[in-house]
Amino acid sequence: MYTTTELLEIVNKALAEKSYDRQPRRLYEPVEYVMSLGGKRIRPVLMLMAYNLYHEDVTPALQPALGLETYHNFTLLHDDVMDCADVRRGKPCVHKVWDDNSAILSGDTMLVMAFQMMQQCAADKLAPVMQTFTQTALEIDEGQQYDILFETRSDVSEAEYIEMIRLKTSVLLACALKIGAMLADAPWADADALYEFGEKMGLAFQLQDDYLDVYGNYETFGKKIGGDILCNKKTYMLINALAKADQPQRQLLEQWLATTDCNPEEKITAVTHIYDSLQIPEMARQKIDQYTTEALNALHKVALPDVQKKPLRQLALGLLSRQS
Ligand code: IPE
Ligand code: IPE
Ligand code: MG
Ligand code: MG
Ligand code: MG
Repeated sequence: MYTTTELLEIVNKALAEKSYDRQPRRLYEPVEYVMSLGGKRIRPVLMLMAYNLYHEDVTPALQPALGLETYHNFTLLHDDVMDCADVRRGKPCVHKVWDDNSAILSGDTMLVMAFQMMQQCAADKLAPVMQTFTQTALEIDEGQQYDILFETRSDVSEAEYIEMIRLKTSVLLACALKIGAMLADAPWADADALYEFGEKMGLAFQLQDDYLDVYGNYETFGKKIGGDILCNKKTYMLINALAKADQPQRQLLEQWLATTDCNPEEKITAVTHIYDSLQIPEMARQKIDQYTTEALNALHKVALPDVQKKPLRQLALGLLSRQS
């Protein structure tokens, strides 16, 4: 069995060898740019980890894994336009280096490339793999649309938020694991348990992303701190702040939500201060712990010896304290 670091090296080496040597350059340069900026590569690594639970040689899962990473990077190009984000992975976003048109069209190109890579799998796996992948991609669009719709609502419930992040983020981690298991001919029950593990880990992952968006460090996170506050994103933190606030605090928070033409840093500081005074960061940490525990319980259902599942367990636990 490979270590997680070894699988990450396999992914990075294969991605570095990918050629985007087609014309016009203006279409492919942004693809090359975003793919070269790194990132954690967690989705392709998860796919290979799941496959590696059942087979030593991970080569048959490599192209689908790269396809999933390419798909993920495509979502980031569009997401940064939708979220008016300027920086990703510590570098200017594609729509900043080039323009919105580039993010749209080079993003679409990456989506197509992702399909090309995903279908490079054993012929007898093609239909179920593409069924899982396309279903996931649709759900992510649904999650992204809810995310945007929630920006202009102030009555979003915690349950609605959890379902939104399940759709926009969790299902891709879950899909990575499930496709890895399917390609490996794993028992269906294992593939389903791995999916559930990914789903729960994905909830913790997005909660941590939302947490770092307020409490992270720009140098390690690589994205603007406070971006979600400026967009009025209905994160776990904002929803719970609205729920816990007393009358004056709630009024203040609502005033800030209605403010769009202020000094951005002033709004970020004020909203963060309200979160702090309501112990919202502590609540978020607890929720992240809860979903990590639920993820580990799902992993327990995978019918393999514990020692083989150790890398997945450690990865889930490591995400608890991730800073990037
Ligand atoms: C960013 O994903 C989008 C979210 C779902 C939070 P990652 O945090 O995996 O981003 P990279 O690929 O490591 O940059
Ligand atoms: C991203 O959620 C989910 C997808 C890209 C599908 P975010 O908008 O929170 O991701 P970041 O913070 O920009 O990476
Ligand atoms: Mg975003
Ligand atoms: Mg977004
Ligand atoms: Mg985010």
